[in-house]
Amino acid sequence: MASRAVIRDAVSSDVESYVKWGLDEGWNMSQDVPTYFASYPKGWLIAQIGDVVVGKLYSTCYPSGMGHIGYVMVVKEWRGKGVGTALLRHVLDNHLATCSLGVGLYSALENLPFYQTLGFQVEQKAFRMSRPTALDDAKLSQRKECVDVAVQAMNPDTDLEKIAQFDAATSGAYRPGFWAQFNEGRTNYVAVLVVESGGEILGLGAHRSLTNSTRVGPIYAKSAAIAEAVLLKLLSQVDGGGVVTLDTFSNNTEAVQMYEKHGFTITPDTYLLRHPSGNQTMQGHPSSLNSQTIFAITSLDFN
Ligand SMILES: CC(C)(COP(=O)(O)OP(=O)(O)OC[C@H]1O[C@@H](n2cnc3c(N)ncnc32)[C@H](O)[C@@H]1OP(=O)(O)O)[C@@H](O)C(=O)NCCC(=O)NCCS
Repeated sequence: MASRAVIRDAVSSDVESYVKWGLDEGWNMSQDVPTYFASYPKGWLIAQIGDVVVGKLYSTCYPSGMGHIGYVMVVKEWRGKGVGTALLRHVLDNHLATCSLGVGLYSALENLPFYQTLGFQVEQKAFRMSRPTALDDAKLSQRKECVDVAVQAMNPDTDLEKIAQFDAATSGAYRPGFWAQFNEGRTNYVAVLVVESGGEILGLGAHRSLTNSTRVGPIYAKSAAIAEAVLLKLLSQVDGGGVVTLDTFSNNTEAVQMYEKHGFTITPDTYLLRHPSGNQTMQGHPSSLNSQTIFAITSLDFN
């Protein structure tokens, strides 16, 4: 059904409602949404019928040519009337039309048919894994797996460009603005690095507070041992009493085994979908090639 919705760019006063709508949907929202909007304001879209906001999404085309869509939401009474399709078509035809690496998004199983109708294909299946925190997690950084590898806090003054390059080589997303937020002290992220003596980054990890848990991700590492050291260092820095969650690709068996070893269990699956750009195939995408070095995903966005 064709929608009568008019699509416009979001402005900063629209942004708080992304968090509210997401919480109403039962999503585990980041409180950093306004910060992300300030970093990449282009591509956040509002669907309106008359004065009433009936749908919204955010999108980004990172400078490396990789697009991402998230927070696709239509108000309940307007679902099934073409608003979601209008929003997706608009963003794919306009803001994301030149993303040479295609456009990714994460979807729950029940929404796959909606996105597949729009031309998205399943690229990877991901497991969401979770674990309660414990008071003695602070001691995890003393474990041999962590001590053997020199995990250090990220230094925003010197490491940012190197991190952005490592991120781009692993995930396909060159997003210096995302990492620069550490420098500006405007997010609740903690980030750690493993760097060899020559200065090459061997591993990278971060965690941040969401509404209902601490989310670990990304963890990118050149080996499972490095990923484990990064994980333990991150867990040692999380306050006790809550839950830690993360997403990891189901085909990275080393990652899944490592998380199970440290008490994580699998909760419902999510799927990484991709809308290929032009005549590109999904197999050419860096995240397909490097999934064995991706131990925890950040959904390139905020949830
Ligand atoms: C998913 C969502 C954005 C779709 O928006 P929408 O405006 O309802 O979608 P449309 O009306 O454009 O739907 C287009 C078609 O897809 C179908 N469709 C929509 N959601 C579907 C779903 N979850 N499963 C199967 N089909 C679906 C519609 O029935 C319609 O089919 P038709 O053309 O044969 O009638 C909306 O249902 C929503 O906000 N859901 C809750 C939030 C959410 O889960 N967002 C997705 C995050 S990944």
